[in-house]
Amino acid sequence: MKQQIEQLRAELHRHNHQYYVLNSPEISDQEFDAMMRQLQDLEQAHPEYYDENSPTQRVGSDLNHEFVQVLHQRPMLSLSNTYNKAEVAEFYERVRAGLEGAPFEICCELKYDGLSISLHYEQGRLVRAVTRGDGVQGDDVTENVKTIRSIPLMLKPNGDYPEVFEIRGEILMPWTSFEQLNREREAMEEPLFANPRNAASGSLKSKSSAVVAHRKLDAYLYYLLGDTVPCDGHYENLEKARSWGFKVSEGMCKAKSLQEVYDFIDYWDEKRSQLPVATDGIVLKVNSQAQQRTLGFTSKSPRWAIAYKFQAEQAATRLLEVTFQVGRTGAVTPVANMEPVLLAGTVVKRATLHNADVMEQLDLHLNDTVLVEKGGEIIPKIVGVDKNARNECTGEKVQFAEVCPECGASLIRIEGEAAHYCPNDVACPPQIKGRIEHFISRKAMNIDSLGPETIDEYYRRGLVRNIADLYDIDVQQINGTTGSREKSARKIISSIAASVEVPFERVVFALGIRFVGEIAAKSLARYFKNIDALSSATVDDLLQVNGIGQVIANSVVGYFQCAENQKIISRLRAKGVCMELSESQLEAQSDRLAGQSIVISGVFTHHSRDEYKTLIEQHGGKNVGSISAKTSFVLAGANMGPAKLEKAQKLGVRVLSEDEFINMIETR
Ligand code: IVH
Repeated sequence: MKQQIEQLRAELHRHNHQYYVLNSPEISDQEFDAMMRQLQDLEQAHPEYYDENSPTQRVGSDLNHEFVQVLHQRPMLSLSNTYNKAEVAEFYERVRAGLEGAPFEICCELKYDGLSISLHYEQGRLVRAVTRGDGVQGDDVTENVKTIRSIPLMLKPNGDYPEVFEIRGEILMPWTSFEQLNREREAMEEPLFANPRNAASGSLKSKSSAVVAHRKLDAYLYYLLGDTVPCDGHYENLEKARSWGFKVSEGMCKAKSLQEVYDFIDYWDEKRSQLPVATDGIVLKVNSQAQQRTLGFTSKSPRWAIAYKFQAEQAATRLLEVTFQVGRTGAVTPVANMEPVLLAGTVVKRATLHNADVMEQLDLHLNDTVLVEKGGEIIPKIVGVDKNARNECTGEKVQFAEVCPECGASLIRIEGEAAHYCPNDVACPPQIKGRIEHFISRKAMNIDSLGPETIDEYYRRGLVRNIADLYDIDVQQINGTTGSREKSARKIISSIAASVEVPFERVVFALGIRFVGEIAAKSLARYFKNIDALSSATVDDLLQVNGIGQVIANSVVGYFQCAENQKIISRLRAKGVCMELSESQLEAQSDRLAGQSIVISGVFTHHSRDEYKTLIEQHGGKNVGSISAKTSFVLAGANMGPAKLEKAQKLGVRVLSEDEFINMIETR
């Protein structure tokens, strides 16, 4: 027995780390919860094997040491989970007994599947945002949280809110943003996020708040705390909070009976698929705070609240074949092709297998009965194989491809990377077409009269083999012999021609250098100013640029070392594609702030915070997040936080006003 308990603990410790620290779970939440319950039961039955470090003893940890850690004023507890109505009924009865028969109401809410956040407001202003961390202390992520549009930085004037209060809620990435982000990452051949929760958590921990702003996060608030909150009712307090400007769920109601609680559960179990964000259950809370106090807390969770978790939908089907997809930069993804099966309202017949390690772990054989899940994930995944169902019809173990299915080149696997690559970037068709599709895309050259189908056709007809070929196509070639498509052919040619006006920073993005996304492209363009400087930059030069790390730097150098790429760039240049910053962009630049690290803090009147960031970069400076001895100065607006001011003074860092800063960059 002891051995079984210890094995479970070890497993749970590992999965906990995968989930909370690495943001990369290997098992579904349901499997994790099931294991945790098993351990809880065993520990309860065998108190002699108590261990204060057991996974059951902690609420979980998402601490990240790159942020300042702060203690929570009130611990952030979690909720105990229930999985069926009988357990909900037990909770209801426990509450009834605890309140000695007094009437009570239950506030029913959706359980949002993101990451919890604690927001502090003083005099109607957001002063601090802290992640849950281990429940006792969390990371100060105020700067990142401020980029989330639905979180009010200032509350509506004259509201009847307390002078000082805390409000807790969930940070989420809406499905549409999640899908868009994964599409972008797929195009950049970056690893995809498994679900919106991981995407939200990965985003919020980003060191650059520009990246966070780009990620389109959202937040719902569900718990108001403070020494003086307006009402006794939790529901009523949230309605107040809504009136102060907070986003509070519309799907919240007070139930007066267990039946009304069940109705709420049934309603949302079905309707939740229509919500813009992920939910994984229902939260039930005793509404009156006086009654909440009567019921109190256990060491881990309140006795007055409970979560009811929805079942993740799963289906069993047969594995027919594993095919391999080649992306724009040659990364090869294994895809399971299965007998079509109905899952969460849609027919599923393909599921991603991510990479060779995932495939190996599943130990897939052809004809296997596989279990497909679409929990918080948009892309269905295979979560297990029914090994008992294997019989004489079961085929061979599925092996990862050795050669590229598109061009036959031998695949390579770079040490330390999960993905296999096709190294034939010059002649492998999906890589060529993918690069051209990226080049014409909206955020790159925006040649919107072309699309993937046309690119595919031009490729098959031999009209294009690289991005520079686009500028050589003429109307006759597109038109073919029939002449019927002349009008659209002219439109295509003129939109290709018009793309030479696209500014340099988007051209850098359009080149499709691996790992160089929109933001990195912008920084590179602004820093190096033209393609010649960029293409001759060394890794060390590149590392000087804001937001450019080793991986991007190596990739940029590798890109420009390739003779084929140099040829393409000179052809693009000859066609007039913009290879340098414009006159006006250059005029706005100087090296007045070269080598300086600048912190921006407070509220500004002349420019927005983002505009100041751009100005700093245009003048060669670096905008950094937190004050340290290396900070050159702080650009301070109104209401700079007192803690920051004190830190600056202690370290002897200068604090400049908006006007002083503008003077500094404008003096010639
Ligand atoms: S109330 C003491 N309400 O679920 C009560 N939590 O395991 C604290 N969650 O950490 C939480 N939706 O991240 C509450 N409507 C809701 C929620 C909610 C999602 C999350 C939250 C918490 C976890 C509980």
